[in-house]
Amino acid sequence: MTMKHFGPTRLDATLIPKIAGQWGTPVYLHDQEYIENSCEQLLNMPNAYGLHVRYAMKANSDRTVLRVVTNKGLDLDCSSLDEAARAYAAGVPYARMMLTTQEVPAGQERAELEQMIKTGLKYNVCSMTQFQLIADFAKANGIDLSMRVHPGAAGGGESATRDTGSEYSCFGVHLNDVPTVKAMADKLGLRFTQVHVHIGSGGAPEKWRENIDRELGFVKTYFPDATTVSFGGGLKVARMPGETQADIASLGAYAAQRITEFKESTGRELQMEIEPGTFVVANSGHIITRIIDKKLTNELNFLIVDGGMELLTRPLLYGSEHPIAIVRQDGTLLSSEYDTKPTAGLKSFGIVGRCCESGDSVRLDNDGNIVPVLIAEPEIGDYVVIGGTGAYSESMSPENYNSHRKPGAVMKTRSGELVQIRKKQVREQIYQNELDVKL
Ligand SMILES: Cc1ncc(COP(=O)(O)O)c(C=O)c1O
Repeated sequence: MTMKHFGPTRLDATLIPKIAGQWGTPVYLHDQEYIENSCEQLLNMPNAYGLHVRYAMKANSDRTVLRVVTNKGLDLDCSSLDEAARAYAAGVPYARMMLTTQEVPAGQERAELEQMIKTGLKYNVCSMTQFQLIADFAKANGIDLSMRVHPGAAGGGESATRDTGSEYSCFGVHLNDVPTVKAMADKLGLRFTQVHVHIGSGGAPEKWRENIDRELGFVKTYFPDATTVSFGGGLKVARMPGETQADIASLGAYAAQRITEFKESTGRELQMEIEPGTFVVANSGHIITRIIDKKLTNELNFLIVDGGMELLTRPLLYGSEHPIAIVRQDGTLLSSEYDTKPTAGLKSFGIVGRCCESGDSVRLDNDGNIVPVLIAEPEIGDYVVIGGTGAYSESMSPENYNSHRKPGAVMKTRSGELVQIRKKQVREQIYQNELDVKL
């Protein structure tokens, strides 16, 4: 293979040994230009009466990523008080955040929450209990609220574990309870100026369209004060060749048409909000690992690399597939699953990490069995580069399992410079909060 660039970021394979040489492996790699381009694509989504884009920061909450995204004009959706505080520490004002969480904190954290809301954080009520806990404070301070609604219908996730609309999902005020919560709010003179639904991650576009129709239906019925309607995140990205990415222009056009019809029947102009995470960052990321061992057995050939499930849990958690590229120590691209290529000369390898877990592999079937990957045969010391890892990798992984340290991260900037954005953990950080007690 003579090509040296691969993947959606057109990563130059000759950079791999340079990055590994400077910062070691395993290491996360991000691409500023890719993130900025996906932000622009989202901000240009067709709309009827205005569009507000929030980045679901759970996808990747690193401060440099947050700065790239917010500098492009996206605001944030935070899933915990600590996530909001983390974004604030990165320089994002609370007025640019919404909190969509499962808990209303108590004690000192409750006081922090109130302070955040007073300085502009939007509170997205996710249950009847949450409403009851927040109502008096909201009333006393004249604060308008958002409500996350569980639509009470099968949602749109790429798998059951990523579906937040089905009967197995507990997120949001269930549609059946909306009239009760709304009546409680009316009694107190509280307004829901925003309605929010997130049906799941990476589902089919038809599900997104269905949700638009359903959501506008209950906005009309129950939410006369709503000025913004959020359709959540979940926009699918194509990580593997052959997968189809969400068509932002077509989904936006559909939403715009429905919101225009809503105006025609109600006289109300709704601003549209979306809050993707995956779409913004997934394909901006790669994980660079080094092959530390090879085991050729009668059943399966294994490559053992120096980073697995503790860096990227999605294959084990969801059965997700990530494209693999093999790069020689001199920077030659040996094979890449991103690109259609002749398969002659390729060989099957199970690619596994260092954790003492039989499921610690980059590719697994639904039963948890390792699925071999067809690659050019590398040597120990060569690199396995795992693509599509900008989202839900470093933010979600069981870091420190087997006491492996959380790796550092590098950003390729718009000008092509490589900068370290997070240092690798030092060993002491793994156990720094443990206490020496006498038993
Ligand atoms: C409330 C909420 N909004 C947005 C998202 C982002 O979803 P995705 O990364 O699939 O776009 C999530 C993801 O779980 C979520 O829970």
